Amino acid sequence: PVQADPAGLAAFIHEVPDFPSPGIAYKDITPLLADAGALARAVEGMAAQVGEAGIEVDRVVGIESRGFILGVPLALRLGCGFVPVRKPGKLPREVRFEEYALEYGTDRLEVHVDGVVAGHRVLVVDDVIATGGTAAATGRLVTGLGGEVAAFAFLLELSGLGGRDQIAEHPVVSLLTY
Ligand code: PRP
Ligand code: MG
Repeated sequence: PVQADPAGLAAFIHEVPDFPSPGIAYKDITPLLADAGALARAVEGMAAQVGEAGIEVDRVVGIESRGFILGVPLALRLGCGFVPVRKPGKLPREVRFEEYALEYGTDRLEVHVDGVVAGHRVLVVDDVIATGGTAAATGRLVTGLGGEVAAFAFLLELSGLGGRDQIAEHPVVSLLTY
């Protein structure tokens, strides 16, 4: 990572070359998740950055699937509820959807229309921001339902792919930048 890593998290993120396709360097966070201390420090570190930035949150929106893993403990830690943004066809009631381009391929994301309440301050959580397409689409889902994107929170930021530029109108916190 390019900045300090006081929580010692980088050692738990394993880079896998050419996954899922040639030229992609996949950052595998499963060793971090498997370690009780690293997992706790990651969630605590993300919550601390949100708090230190003075960001107030009514709900956490987590992005399927790796955003669920970190979003739920972060919601508990921040004392608010959790709303899943899901891949197509998974949510059973009325949804809004947004298309997005991924680092590899394209897809769409959906949220229940009552998952975001007008005026609520929403923290959007995911494990990684790369191109920013996933996060930007989720931001559009939140604002489209009248919510306010209080901030985006990521464990990892892959700088150099322009992800932050896609969501530049909102605060962004990330624990580790590569
Ligand atoms: C990965 C990662 C982020 C997204 C970042 O998810 O978990 O959600 O890509 O890429 P972007 O900034 O270029 O949009 P992926 O769609 O691979 O699925 P997963 O979370 O279900 O593993
Ligand atoms: Mg994901």
